[in-house]
Amino acid sequence: MKIKAIRAREILDSRATPTVECEITLEDGRAYSASVPAGASKGQHEALELRDGDPRRYGGKGTLAAVNAVNSIIAPTLIGHEITDLTGIDRTMIALDGTRNKSNLGANSILSVSFAAARAASGSVGVPLYALVGGAYADRMPIPMMNILNGGAHATNNIDIQEFMIIPCGADSLAEAVRMGAEVYHTLRSLLIKHGYSTGVGDEGGFAPTLASEAKALSIICEAIEKAGYRAGTDIALGLDVAASEWYSDGVYTLPKRGERMNSEQLCDYILSLVRDYPIISVEDGAADVDLDGWVTLGRKLGDTGCLLVGDDLFVTDADRVAEGALRGIASAVLVKPNQIGTVTEAYAAIRTASHFGYKSIMSHRSGETEDTVIADLAVGFATHYIKTGAPSRSERVAKYNRLMRIESSLFSPKYGF
Ligand code: PGA
Ligand code: ZN
Repeated sequence: MKIKAIRAREILDSRATPTVECEITLEDGRAYSASVPAGASKGQHEALELRDGDPRRYGGKGTLAAVNAVNSIIAPTLIGHEITDLTGIDRTMIALDGTRNKSNLGANSILSVSFAAARAASGSVGVPLYALVGGAYADRMPIPMMNILNGGAHATNNIDIQEFMIIPCGADSLAEAVRMGAEVYHTLRSLLIKHGYSTGVGDEGGFAPTLASEAKALSIICEAIEKAGYRAGTDIALGLDVAASEWYSDGVYTLPKRGERMNSEQLCDYILSLVRDYPIISVEDGAADVDLDGWVTLGRKLGDTGCLLVGDDLFVTDADRVAEGALRGIASAVLVKPNQIGTVTEAYAAIRTASHFGYKSIMSHRSGETEDTVIADLAVGFATHYIKTGAPSRSERVAKYNRLMRIESSLFSPKYGF
């Protein structure tokens, strides 16, 4: 089946910021669309997100240039292309852009087409997207990492660490994991009310109270887990996204809200103290993307805790960067954000490289999301170990959990976790 038309438009993401939606129409007249997310705490090596820069529209954040790149450059090239040749479609766009970081056409333009093409290919052969990319027997559901308390760049509270996640590792199924997460979310809400804290939420749907410390955030989450009837550390473990690149400048980490300054060693010791005191099994970006010595120190200090060290800004879903890091023994898991690299093909390459080096992979949303659910299918199809897609609240987050539950319920013999 060949591509008949490709048309992009500007739509809004969950933060009232414009993004790109692409619609692909096939020869049979059926149309498929997909949209792309946007980050707030971005790695400096991410592929470029094309924004108009026109202050008269959306404070300069319009995406009309990206839309135009799809409609007037990508579309004419791809019309007539076989839709199931997904890697060929991605390769064509990579060549058309011609830059290392997609600064010509924009990773947002390119990914909107890459996502829509994957969805259209699945529709054209009548196979769900997860099965198209993962094969007829794909049946492994990822473990969710649910961000139930927001800080850092995603909230206006006083908490510097960006994400506090619950990880229902003791569940038997994805649906049970979602239920456990939702129950803890409700219990946490009640506890926050009881102690007089705000229950307003941050960008990823997690609560964003002002608290005495990050340790307090972790202890109240543990209290919520226990009060909901689960064992913290056994049924439900914890994860952090420190997002330390946001704090780093001239060799020093400055925690912006607390106003405290630390060197790499002190930051690693701080993280280690939290990992020792709470059942944390995953720490993301515990050092800045440019602080490779800090990453080595982190590995040395946290290595024997068994804690997963996740590279987000560090790897930016780039297979070459994953390989470089792995050869230096940095980190132990890769966060996979397709819009950091710009095509599904390249995101898959990062996952393959991660698994080649024995690294875990975690499919991920961005803090600015749409109702699109492509990443849920990609997580199952590519068999990533985890998926991080926010709190079990707010529709742009819940859409992914709901899609995962629909996939799981359609499988003959679903497996949860790995
Ligand atoms: P971002 O946050 O989408 O704002 O980059 C998510 C993350 O850092 O993992
Ligand atoms: Zn991150």
